Amino acid sequence: DKAGHKHFMAKEIAEQPGVIGDALQQYITAEGEINLPEKGIDFSKIDRITMVACGTAFYACLTAKYWFEQIARLPVEVDVASEFRYREPPIPERTLALFVSQSGETADTLAALRYCEGKAQTITSVINVPESSIARESDLALPIFAGVEVGVASTKAFTCQLTVLFLLVLKAAKDHGALDDAAIADHISHLRGLPAVLNTALEQNDALRDAARKLASARDVLFLGRGHMYPLALEGALKLKEISYIHAEAYASGELKHGPIALVDENVPVVVLAPRDPLFDKTVSNMQEVMARKGKVILVSDNKGLSEANEGVWSSIEMPSISDALTPILYAIPAQLLAYHTAVAKGTDVDQPRNLAKSVTVE
Ligand code: M6R
Repeated sequence: DKAGHKHFMAKEIAEQPGVIGDALQQYITAEGEINLPEKGIDFSKIDRITMVACGTAFYACLTAKYWFEQIARLPVEVDVASEFRYREPPIPERTLALFVSQSGETADTLAALRYCEGKAQTITSVINVPESSIARESDLALPIFAGVEVGVASTKAFTCQLTVLFLLVLKAAKDHGALDDAAIADHISHLRGLPAVLNTALEQNDALRDAARKLASARDVLFLGRGHMYPLALEGALKLKEISYIHAEAYASGELKHGPIALVDENVPVVVLAPRDPLFDKTVSNMQEVMARKGKVILVSDNKGLSEANEGVWSSIEMPSISDALTPILYAIPAQLLAYHTAVAKGTDVDQPRNLAKSVTVE
């Protein structure tokens, strides 16, 4: 049931404020305490984290690496499961092995989990399907409460994964003494405001549809982001290629001059994901290098960012403001809607893109 939407993907994008609200209700008590299932995780016994996943879930892990390292001061390694399982990396003691999977049945992720059995201090998974193989074989399985996701392109599972991972980061920061109670309470209050802010972001639907119509004729699209917006740039590019079949690549903004700028000309749209955060000026200077080579920029930023850097851009999309830490969850909405409307404009099969399966249960 598409609940009045043209595609499951559109429905699932629109559901995000609600399902994230559900996840927050499950994991935060009325008093504002983080509430993990009984076994929980004692991060004071953990010195490092290794995160493993595939596809969009891998980008959720990459985002969480920035959070764990910057907020909880815990070192994190992130791997795609197909590489991890055959590289057979040494797993030091006091390692938390963390697996992220919507379906909980992805073959490579499951094999990576089995490799960690008996080696990692504890095996935790962040999953959408509680009765899945990955959930069953974990010491602790944390459901994301996204509800059934039908669209092959993952949307609401991604933002629910990020939400649950962010809560784990706060728990780690608390156990390690990296944040005091007031700072944690501040993060929790921003989290609680997230569903309302996501609803405001969804109001940019028409502006994103207009930008997407312009993207639909492109052959190649670049996505740029810095810091924790870099994994989101990767996710935006993946979404676009999956459902519109346009070749899209993402780069950390600072990498632009190390190669990809050679691709830029008037035929290459460049999507820049840049909230007005401490790295904004650096990203804007990369964006100006793109425009100096006639690259067409779609700038996604907030009111303050756009008032400073809107000049000369091809399209701009205004996001509401939120705490810096939560921008990857918020900016997932324009990344998803841009891909969605581009695919609709091209007339591709949005919910069942060619060559892709919802769950990859064979290697
Ligand atoms: O079920 P999983 O989260 O383990 O699936 C991982 C990937 O196969 C999945 O995220 C895939 O990349 C999606 N099609 C992305 O939209």
